Amino acid sequence: MGSLKGKDILHGNQFSRQEIDAIIRNAAFFEKELKTKDSLTLLRGKILATLFFEPSTRTRLSFETAMQRLGGGVVSMASAESSSAAKGESVADTARTVSQYADVIVIRHPRMGSAQEAADAAPVPVINAGDGAGQHPTQALLDIYTIRKELGSLKDLTVAMVGDLKNGRTVHALVELLSLFEAQLYFVSPDALRMPEEITSHLRQKGIEIVETEDLMKAASESDLLYMTRIQKERFPELSEYERVKGSYVINGEFLNRLKKKMTILHPLPRVDEISPEVDTYPGAAYFRQVRNGVYVRMVLLAMVLGKR
Ligand code: CP
Repeated sequence: MGSLKGKDILHGNQFSRQEIDAIIRNAAFFEKELKTKDSLTLLRGKILATLFFEPSTRTRLSFETAMQRLGGGVVSMASAESSSAAKGESVADTARTVSQYADVIVIRHPRMGSAQEAADAAPVPVINAGDGAGQHPTQALLDIYTIRKELGSLKDLTVAMVGDLKNGRTVHALVELLSLFEAQLYFVSPDALRMPEEITSHLRQKGIEIVETEDLMKAASESDLLYMTRIQKERFPELSEYERVKGSYVINGEFLNRLKKKMTILHPLPRVDEISPEVDTYPGAAYFRQVRNGVYVRMVLLAMVLGKR
């Protein structure tokens, strides 16, 4: 425990099984505490800075909620356009500057590698809240907490990841964590949106069994969990390329009827059309419970990097 004190959180591959176990245990503790208390005092006097150079609802608000539930304060850029980044200030200089005000920085930026640049420049812990099509490790950790809660175990699962596996930073981070638990993985995507080769080859070198397919029904029927993702319009250089693949995979009532088995469905959200609203009342549809779990997991991460857990 305490091994994350002073550390940056940048990539899904940085965690050990022991650290994940500690994160799950502590998230369960905070979840229980918040059933009877509105807020705690663990991080009283500490300040979180949130620097979001890309849109966000869940990640930003859940980090800010987490800090406030722990008794700390939050400073935040209103938008990238209203910060000095609009005048040409670098990510490194922004992070160096903000570290004069805050004890921990959470950053989201459209460029892969930008969180690492911020971490290299700032003397305080930096948490990657998404760097382009790179990584989103805190989403992966809350996904793991959700899977553990919904399915009861993380061992020997078969997981189907569906959608934009090329650009999806949440799946890039989540496969790193699932590989620690010997998961079998189905990668379901149109050919143009396949999981990057360096990720699949790295997983196979670790002994992870991977099946790449375009057949969602086959993958779903052989899996314990469906992890749906949005086709990420903003990452396509040409709109016509997006138009060609959008709507490739849709989970709806008819799909669930044909599937004929109980299925847990996660999605990092936001969704566009890949899960129909009629699925929301399906007992295995866990994506809004997943959202809530983000607060508990981010409380743990803030407490850990600040040496309070
Ligand atoms: N899952 C996720 O990263 O959501 P936001 O883009 O709303 O933060």
